[in-house]
Amino acid sequence: VAATIPVAVAALLAAAGPASAGTGAAGPTAPAGSAGSAGAGDPYFPLAGNGGYHVSHYGLTLAYDPKTGHLDGTAVLTARATQRLTRFDLDLRGLKVTGVTVDHRKAAHRRDGQELVVTPRTALRKGHEFRVTVTYNGTPGPVTDPDGSLDGWIPTDDGAFVAGEPQGAMTWFPANNHPQDKSSYDFTITVPAGHTAVANGVLRGQRTAHGRTTYRWRQSEPMAAYLATATVGKFKVEQYTTRDGVKVYNAVDPREAAKAAPVLKELPSVLEWESRLFGPYPYRAAGAVVDHAPQVGYALETQTRPLYDSAPALSTLVHESAHQWFGDSVSLTRWKDIWLNEGFATYAEWLYDEQHGGPSAQNAFDTLYARPADDRLWAYPAGDPGSGAAIFGTPVYARGAMVLHELRKAVGDRTFLRILRTWASEHRYGHGTTAQFTALAERQSGKDLKSLFHTWLLTKGKPDKA
Ligand code: ARG
Ligand code: ZN
Repeated sequence: VAATIPVAVAALLAAAGPASAGTGAAGPTAPAGSAGSAGAGDPYFPLAGNGGYHVSHYGLTLAYDPKTGHLDGTAVLTARATQRLTRFDLDLRGLKVTGVTVDHRKAAHRRDGQELVVTPRTALRKGHEFRVTVTYNGTPGPVTDPDGSLDGWIPTDDGAFVAGEPQGAMTWFPANNHPQDKSSYDFTITVPAGHTAVANGVLRGQRTAHGRTTYRWRQSEPMAAYLATATVGKFKVEQYTTRDGVKVYNAVDPREAAKAAPVLKELPSVLEWESRLFGPYPYRAAGAVVDHAPQVGYALETQTRPLYDSAPALSTLVHESAHQWFGDSVSLTRWKDIWLNEGFATYAEWLYDEQHGGPSAQNAFDTLYARPADDRLWAYPAGDPGSGAAIFGTPVYARGAMVLHELRKAVGDRTFLRILRTWASEHRYGHGTTAQFTALAERQSGKDLKSLFHTWLLTKGKPDKA
């Protein structure tokens, strides 16, 4: 599935322009526009993603040995040049690259920090669809995020918990590692028999021979690299199809099974409830991986199959499920807008409580609003948390949800839900920005909402109650 790049993304890429051109050897003497830039132009993570091409498909063939922590990988990327390319970058951190080909011909490559710089034998012309094969191996490990949390390939006592937000995809496969670039994926993962390898999408096959089991997974709908997983462990597996025809695959660490069971049982009804609110569930597959990985400390909305580091609370299941619409199907254009993911998923929790006999959203709002003016909640604007420790901080989640509650009060319930549904449908499998969301809210409501969003989203400090 080719990623559709909305006009706004194209504009952003254009704006990033030659200023963000590669750091590599060709330097200023290279013909203008011939080297793909080292980043996608996102000020929060300047080296995340790459310029000059889009990846439509990743074929990842992996073998992992949990005992030694060794990973063997072959990545086959199908990409299209968006400019003439004498060289281009992929994002890859650590690991040893043993070979790179472009269109089946050996290509020169070198490492430069987290960039794998590839120079094909001959320049790729603009619009050319090409195939890059990278063979690599080593002992993958996570990156440490500014908030101290681990992200990427995180070894566990029986495998690995593989979660890539925001930067970790590059710890286990060469990627165009920015949500601007969305692609379909095929995974072929071989692990010792008795272990299970869980990726995104639909399980296409599973075969055991000579003491090793190979799992084949397919993620057909477009996916950002950070939402890919290849989680390995000893899991109890449950599979079924919902009334809506969604294929569910749950993999649960036996140590978490008793606590997880009553929550996972709710998954079909949570997805049905969210579909009624937000519009049709975007994917043909669903499920969960419930691992036992206390070193992780968070859950992630890995596409179609969220990851939990322990048996989740129902509210967490609701949150990660809501991300399938908001964050996964509708992706960020730039990380600054992270509240479009976390504020929406948090507000889904509030709505769920409200409609299932719990406290109302107003109640959740009031409890937060009661916090004193010097509380961390008001320390920075939810609409621009910075790329440091605050990117997944309370203001992004809680104030992000408070913004939506203010919007709901301003436009009324019916219009509010119509705005959410229209957001999900107009940007399905694509991207959105804060400016596009606020414009949609104004269009749908016919109201001037500039000061509302300015106060609740873009200003730090505790707002006066409207
Ligand atoms: N997006 C995740 C959630 O559902 C949180 C991810 C946190 N990631 C991290 N590296 N700390 O809220
Ligand atoms: Zn979240």
